[in-house]
Amino acid sequence: MSSSSNGPAGRLAGKTAVITGTASGQGRAAAVLFAREGARVVGCDINPEGAAETVEMVTRAGGEMVSLHPCDLTDPGQAAAVVQLAISTFGGFEVLYNNAGMARMAAIGEMTWKDFSFTIDHEVNLIFHLVSAAWSHLIGRGGASIINTGSVSGSRVYKVLPGLAHSAAKGAVLSMTRQMAMEGGPHNLRANTLSPGLVEVPATSEAMKAAWFREPMLAKLMLPRWGQPEDVAAAAVFLASDESSWITGIDLKVDGGTTAW
Ligand SMILES: NC(=O)c1ccc[n+]([C@@H]2O[C@H](COP(=O)([O-])OP(=O)(O)OC[C@H]3O[C@@H](n4cnc5c(N)ncnc54)[C@H](O)[C@@H]3O)[C@@H](O)[C@H]2O)c1
Repeated sequence: MSSSSNGPAGRLAGKTAVITGTASGQGRAAAVLFAREGARVVGCDINPEGAAETVEMVTRAGGEMVSLHPCDLTDPGQAAAVVQLAISTFGGFEVLYNNAGMARMAAIGEMTWKDFSFTIDHEVNLIFHLVSAAWSHLIGRGGASIINTGSVSGSRVYKVLPGLAHSAAKGAVLSMTRQMAMEGGPHNLRANTLSPGLVEVPATSEAMKAAWFREPMLAKLMLPRWGQPEDVAAAAVFLASDESSWITGIDLKVDGGTTAW
């Protein structure tokens, strides 16, 4: 996949990427595409079956991937273990793609503090843990890229999505990433967010079947189809690669035009 007699090929050749949430959806698509583009991949997920399946998919296709699973990234020790796995297996890494996330939805007044905190834990705090564990390593690489998954919900509100906690979390991801870009800049460490619109994954596919959800969500799109995990993975490859070497602090929206009007 990535090797030729002239050395590794691909847009991510020579790079090692830590990707979180590789059991499913966008994380799985990214693991497959990053490996196809020549990266060595370190995955992790709280869901061990899905994570193991992704490793199998990548290796069967000729890519290089290891994974830590089950791994709950809301635990700082387990986040640090992912960083250690990347260093012990591949000698280090220069891409950290914080993709994993899980949100609880409920209307204001019905959302419990427990569900609000759960969402902040699973969408914000896990990024803090990984970035804290990886920071000194990444600033010493001479060039590195952090990609954090935001969301359209970080800057817009959907009428049919009761996303109080999710909006708070993704807004935080967007702003904390700008801080990473500022402090990382002198070390050539770039940090950007990728903000998907509605993407078809197991967690969203049920809701997409319901007319009350589907119709208004489709109406928000300029390109009239659901996003696919591969749409986001392609943008992640760009932000991980040297093609984006003068891009930092941005929010790259992959949303079918949702936020353009
Ligand atoms: N699907 C969408 O419509 C959409 C839209 C905007 C943003 N996003 C964001 O995209 C990212 C990827 O989600 P997806 O759409 O691929 O959904 P997904 O549910 O298919 O994948 C998310 C993965 O993260 C893992 N995960 C969650 N919490 C974890 C933890 N504490 N430790 C380890 N692993 C954990 C899950 O097990 C799962 O495999 C998330 O950050 C999500 O908020 C999704």
